[in-house]
Parts: sequence; structure tokens; C-alpha cells
Amino acid sequence: MEIVELTREHADDIVTWSYPEPNGCYDLTGMDPRHFTDLSHGFWALLDEGRLVGYRCYGRQARVPGFAYDDGALDIAGGLRPELTGQGLGQVAISTGLDFARDRFEPQAFRVTVADFNVRALKVVDALGFVAVEKFESPSDARTYVVLVRPA
Ligand SMILES: CC(C)(COP(=O)(O)OP(=O)(O)OC[C@H]1O[C@@H](n2cnc3c(N)ncnc32)[C@H](O)[C@@H]1OP(=O)(O)O)[C@@H](O)C(=O)NCCC(=O)NCCS
Repeated sequence: MEIVELTREHADDIVTWSYPEPNGCYDLTGMDPRHFTDLSHGFWALLDEGRLVGYRCYGRQARVPGFAYDDGALDIAGGLRPELTGQGLGQVAISTGLDFARDRFEPQAFRVTVADFNVRALKVVDALGFVAVEKFESPSDARTYVVLVRPA
């Protein structure tokens, strides 16, 4: 897998992605594709042999409202194409994104914020060495989120 610049074609694909419950909160359907192509938002395409298999996001857009984030770590987020979830691809997808971000942004640490119901995502980031440091409830959806960090 590799990370490349996210094109309008990628964005038009991403805004059709819808996840089965309980992951419907990660749906991207109906979003403005320009949200993903705006470079200041920190979105990048994740390709496998040229095919769009996911996206990664770095920086403020990877944060969840309601937590007092500091700038000591680079926030990361992202998702796989819905039909590719649950097949064991998450670890290589996220670690490809970490390798890219380490080279490009040279952060001290990585931070990820995961809804506490999302055991699948929590298992993957745990396997990648992330450690939970805080929990909070987001006012945007009243869900509980876990904040996890790891050295870069
Ligand atoms: C989060 C995500 C990257 C995980 O990648 P994935 O390839 O789907 O996950 P995997 O298939 O590798 O599953 C990871 C683990 O969770 C387990 N798992 C899968 N579904 C589960 C469920 N509903 N409940 C509990 N465990 C589950 C798997 O058995 C696996 O366990 P193992 O490591 O012991 O083998 C991917 O699902 C995704 O992009 N989801 C949509 C968006 C999202 O959730 N974003 C959160 C970003 S932080």
C-alpha cells in the first residue's frame, strides 16, 4: 500500500462510502468532495496496486470535538473502503499511513481518537503500539472516545 495525493476522482469515490451499523457514524455519503481535496484539511489517499482502498487524515481534522488536544503529537484518522473492512487489512493500512507521516511531518508522537464502541479499531491501534491516555464524551454526538498515543 502507498499514500498519494488525494485527487478529485478519489474524493468523488470517498463521498459514496457508507458503513454497516454500528459503524454508520463513519459514513461519508453526501459530504462535499472538496472537503477531501482541500490540502489544508490533511486528507491523503491510500492505494493498493493503484486502487483506492482507503484514506488517511493528519492534523486538526483528525481530532474529535470536546477534548483539550495539545500540539505534542500528530493526530491521525482514516478509514478503509467499506467492503474491505473486517479482513485484517487495517494494520497494514494504518502503519503505511504512519510511515508516510513520520517522513513527511517528522512528529514526536502520533495520537488517535477512537469511539469506545469501536473495538475493531481499538484492537488494530493497540497492536500498533498505541496506549490509551484519556477518555472523554464528545458534545457533538454524546459518544465516549478514547485518546491513544505512541511515540513516532
Ligand atoms: C478501523 C479499521 C481501520 C480496522 O481495520 P480492519 O481491517 O477492518 O480490522 P481487522 O479486520 O483487522 O480487525 C481487527 C480486529 O478486530 C476484530 N474485530 C472485527 N470486528 C469486530 C467486532 N465487531 N467486535 C470485536 N472485534 C472485532 C478482528 O477479529 C481483529 O481481531 P484480531 O486482531 O484479534 O485478529 C477499519 O475497519 C475501518 O477503516 N473502519 C471504518 C472507519 C473506522 O472505524 N474508523 C475508525 C478510525 S480510528
